[in-house]
Amino acid sequence: MDTPVAPGSTTSRSVAIICGSTKGKRESNHMTTLISSKMNKGLSDQITNEFHAAHLYLAMSCVLQDMGLKMLSKWFTHHADEERAHGMKILTYIQDVGGTVTLGTIEKPKAKYPSAESILKAALAHELLVTDQINKLMATAISMKDYATQSFLQWFVDEQVEEVAIVSEVLDLVRLAGPKNMLQVESRVGKLLAAEG
Ligand code: FEO
Repeated sequence: MDTPVAPGSTTSRSVAIICGSTKGKRESNHMTTLISSKMNKGLSDQITNEFHAAHLYLAMSCVLQDMGLKMLSKWFTHHADEERAHGMKILTYIQDVGGTVTLGTIEKPKAKYPSAESILKAALAHELLVTDQINKLMATAISMKDYATQSFLQWFVDEQVEEVAIVSEVLDLVRLAGPKNMLQVESRVGKLLAAEG
């Protein structure tokens, strides 16, 4: 850990650097940090946003379970797991670039919905919100010429396109089927789940 590492190296998760004296007599616990404090805060806040999405989808899953829609419920649990994985992906990135993670508060999710359609509508609105959050982070990375974070965030930009598309697809299914044909929706969602792994 006390081998000097050139700023710019991303190979180590937490790298101690020699600083203060050109003769290398003093060591510091400072870490090489490849991102600005503004970028660090934005990314750290996004971890909480992703965990919030996970919490929200898990609550939706529970409501769907109570409605007897087991496949839709499972699909939401699967998406809650994905959101948590997104949060962890950002956490690991911040640590890889020597930043600091500060987790925020997750608000209590809504627990009552009148129908499956209202749940899907709320989930789509939430995915559009997350898309906006990711786009703002990318705009910050671009404005700061932070090429590493731009590269990292591109995965999230692409993921949001996929997520908005899949939630829209399931919302369309629910709308087309109507409340009396939810068993058909359950069957289609079961196939989607199998395809998503
Ligand atoms: Fe990670 Fe669906 O936003």
